[in-house]
Amino acid sequence: MDIKDYKLLSEQLSALVHGVPHLTANLANASALLWSALENINWAGFYLMEDGILVLGPFQGKPACIEIRPGRGVCGTAVERDETQSVPNVLEFPGHIACDAASRSEVVVPLHKSGLVVGVLDVDSARVGRFSEDDRQGLELFARTLEAELEELL
Ligand code: SME
Repeated sequence: MDIKDYKLLSEQLSALVHGVPHLTANLANASALLWSALENINWAGFYLMEDGILVLGPFQGKPACIEIRPGRGVCGTAVERDETQSVPNVLEFPGHIACDAASRSEVVVPLHKSGLVVGVLDVDSARVGRFSEDDRQGLELFARTLEAELEELL
């Protein structure tokens, strides 16, 4: 998908979650939207900060690790640096946490509330180099849309 498709996807996301006062339901629908729109992915979902630790949230894909500490793996690195991580080959990422052994590339985008990181969006693929610069920017747009729509709920 190019950035134009991600703009459309973010509009669909807004339509799906706008005015819905349930965080879990909205994140579940957001992960289902990514799962149905993106080709060649094997996991799409969320981890949310609870008492300083990332805890597994709504997702699509195989069962995943439940807790991740900041600084650990791709997700924990995104939190610690407060910076999107786009990893073309997770086998070359020191400390990568293999939830699904088939995963090869991964994008993790931090989610914020009032400027603080409150969770991450994580999308994985079994293909090396699956995510382009457009995918990275598009998933950041998706995350920014979610932050704006769910500001009261996060
Ligand atoms: N691979 C991630 C862990 C989460 S799963 O991919 C769903 C990481 O290294 O943080």
